[in-house]
Amino acid sequence: MDLASHIRRVPDFPKPGILFYDISTLLAHSGAWRETIDRMAEAIRPMQPDLLAGIESRGFLAAAPLALALGKGFVMVRKRGKLPGRTVSHAYALEYGEDVVEVQDGMIERGQRVVLVDDLLATGGTAAASIELLRKVGAEVPAAAFIIELMGLGGRERLDVQEVRTETVLQFPA
Ligand code: PRP
Ligand code: MG
Repeated sequence: MDLASHIRRVPDFPKPGILFYDISTLLAHSGAWRETIDRMAEAIRPMQPDLLAGIESRGFLAAAPLALALGKGFVMVRKRGKLPGRTVSHAYALEYGEDVVEVQDGMIERGQRVVLVDDLLATGGTAAASIELLRKVGAEVPAAAFIIELMGLGGRERLDVQEVRTETVLQFPA
């Protein structure tokens, strides 16, 4: 199945000159979405995860069905202030300013193998910060899986430095 044809390209979003790869059309097609989840599940299975971690918000869309497909639990990595109870935070630099990712305390046991899931890998800033957070709470993070990889923005290289294996279903030029 040609999954790339199910990704809608939206020029000049969110800013002029940016070509946005929109997964809405992939999600809306049940066959293409199932094929996407099946392919991601097959890529993740050999990593033998104990848990998956999805990154707010679009990462949740893939992480939840993948966790069910693999018979594993799913933990949310969220932006600052969204999760109730005790949390562990990790701040990371953005182009301008900083952002914070959080997980709830006690969701991950030390030494558990956690595979990170998000919809898209661009610069890798979001994924790299999430990996640092997961490692901070004692997780092993052998791999990260994405629907789309934007090539040439350094995301894969950034995860290579963290010794995280990167699995992507579709690759597009940035
Ligand atoms: C987008 C995308 C990834 C991240 C990729 O999320 O869903 O999470 O950016 O970019 P990076 O590799 O350069 O870090 P966004 O922050 O737009 O939020 P959303 O998922 O809530 O829509
Ligand atoms: Mg996102």
